[in-house]
Amino acid sequence: MHAPRIPRSVTLRNLFRLARRPIPVFTEYLDRYGDNFILSISEARVTHFTRDAEVARHVLQRNHRNYEKSEIQTGEMGKYLGRGLLTNAGDSWLRQRRLIQPGFHRRRIEALQAEMQAVIDDECAGAAEQPSFDLFRFTREVAFRIIVRAIFTRGFGTADTKRLHYILDELQAFVIYPIRLPFLRGPLRWTGQEGRHLKLAHEARNLVRVQLQERRGTRGPAPDDLLQMLVDTRYEDTGEPMDDEQLIDEVLILFAAGYETSANALAWTLWLLLKHPEELRKLRDSPDPTYLIQVIEESMRLYPPAWITDRMALGPDEAGGFTIDEGMTMGLFIYGIHHNPAYYDDPETFRPDRMHPDRKRERHPFSFLPFGGGPRQCIGNHFAMLEMQLLLRHLIDTYRLESVGELPEPIPKPFITLHQDRIVPVRLRSEQ
Ligand code: HEM
Repeated sequence: MHAPRIPRSVTLRNLFRLARRPIPVFTEYLDRYGDNFILSISEARVTHFTRDAEVARHVLQRNHRNYEKSEIQTGEMGKYLGRGLLTNAGDSWLRQRRLIQPGFHRRRIEALQAEMQAVIDDECAGAAEQPSFDLFRFTREVAFRIIVRAIFTRGFGTADTKRLHYILDELQAFVIYPIRLPFLRGPLRWTGQEGRHLKLAHEARNLVRVQLQERRGTRGPAPDDLLQMLVDTRYEDTGEPMDDEQLIDEVLILFAAGYETSANALAWTLWLLLKHPEELRKLRDSPDPTYLIQVIEESMRLYPPAWITDRMALGPDEAGGFTIDEGMTMGLFIYGIHHNPAYYDDPETFRPDRMHPDRKRERHPFSFLPFGGGPRQCIGNHFAMLEMQLLLRHLIDTYRLESVGELPEPIPKPFITLHQDRIVPVRLRSEQ
């Protein structure tokens, strides 16, 4: 038995709403048809959407060999960002993941803490001098500078950082169109939009290439950063290093996967803390790192930066009692899983207590997937948790964060990651 299929008339009626604001449309369907439904825009594009943690576990972990990343990630995103870990697939992905994984070990990432902290201190001090600023703009700036510093502890100047930041923002904002509205792919090509963005991607590659060449040419002790890790690592089977083009792909993917996601999570967490001053007070009064982690996790439950991911079935299968056909896309609706009342009572409410390790253990292990699950789980999860804790701790201990005027109520706007749909003006005052 297949999951219930959304009638064609309903799909057509909602097409533009779906492209602009998919989350409320998916939620309506889930409330009406159950935790799984099939949406097909054309016979060639049939997607089984789910907010069932067991189906997610089946696809991402139990039978992951039968599922590959869809053409959306490997093709459309890969066209601009190359074939780094996030956009790679099959044997090539596995080989790269094995090669890079040790570099993201918790202890290696902790070695980058001082670099992260230096960026945070500098950015917060700068922000405190401004009369007001937009929350999400601030967290994007911090997260981007942190990832730049973690990859290239030296060498990447302010102008290059700005340019790369601009290019990545342009690419992430653009790539959403051919993904959401596939019928625009032709027009985007004819009107030169695709070409313009391919050129930007080429420029980003060159910025990274220059750094790589400089690094290879530098004498003396090498810095302990992510670039050096990628340069030094060797394939187990051949003992050879990565070639330069693959290395540049991996660097670009770290930027793309590791900056906007963290910036999003930070912006939502800070907004939630402004909205719930009692939680902010609790954090200020207690240096307990566990509670800070609970706050971040509860924020990512409500607003998961990676709000959806997908996989394509390589062969026929069955998941959660439903038939999956070969070639079907599985839309793993992470936002929906996190808001599913089957796993969370009163799911729309911000309650960090529910992320206590004991409470988490009682729930389905795939009911909380901010970093995905299974073998393709986020490689940067320790990195992200560390940078978020460092920024929040510093802000809470050193400054008073205030909303300028009444706190706006942003609605989550799903680009590739989950943006805030409006400006949240805030200011920072030093407590000293
Ligand atoms: C709060 C911040 C972050 C969130 C919510 C997040 C979320 C995710 C998710 C859900 C996936 C899995 C996607 C899938 O299965 O289709 C993923 C993969 C990935 N993430 Fe993150 N991420 C974050 C931060 C980072 C950081 C800081 C880095 C790098 C420094 C990073 C690098 C990657 C890479 C390379 C992959 C692909 C892994 C693979 O397929 O082998 N992420 N991330």
